Amino acid sequence: MSNNGTTALHPNDSFYNILDMIYDDQREEHSHHVFKNRFNREYKHANNVSHYCEQIAIRMYTNNNPLIFKVRIAGFLHDIGKSKIDEKILNTPGSLSEEEWFEIKKHPEIGAKMMGFSNRYENVLDIKMAIYQHHERLNGSGYPLGIKGDQIILPARIIAVADSFDAMTNKRVYQKEYSVHDALYEIKKQAGILYDPAVVDCFCDYIRSP
Ligand SMILES: [Fe+2]
Repeated sequence: MSNNGTTALHPNDSFYNILDMIYDDQREEHSHHVFKNRFNREYKHANNVSHYCEQIAIRMYTNNNPLIFKVRIAGFLHDIGKSKIDEKILNTPGSLSEEEWFEIKKHPEIGAKMMGFSNRYENVLDIKMAIYQHHERLNGSGYPLGIKGDQIILPARIIAVADSFDAMTNKRVYQKEYSVHDALYEIKKQAGILYDPAVVDCFCDYIRSP
């Protein structure tokens, strides 16, 4: 416990414990089980992204364990805001209408706000920001703000690569899956455009020697 009465998330906290803490902090007490169940359906994706984020962070931050821990958690929680988006929109096959896209694009902000309820945890600030920025892209073509380059914090630039790779290599309602080789090719092609080249290098290094 620190002086201001907060506690910190701990590296030994399981993902389930962390989800409990976040959802238990929500104000909608009657519905938090619904949101938690929805998140659990995305558990595999959340876990994969977290693992890739950690492996990239190990290669970028070397021995900075608190940062590696935060990136691992941020990777796990990056899409937590989607648990509050209408499921019909999330499961729409094919292209989305402008209104549907508008709704989906709210999930980074919703996720960051959900972390905001957890003010009792003193080390969530970077995690919250990484969730907020995980769809921003290096050249400013992302959302919600369209910020560029170093304006995007490194943990968010790491999630961008990990999330894109996992989305490409797994079948989604709106696309067939890529092979690992083809997904890496696509990501490397966008290094310096959509993705941070240093992050892409570390990710390629991980894929070559996991
Ligand atoms: Fe997302």
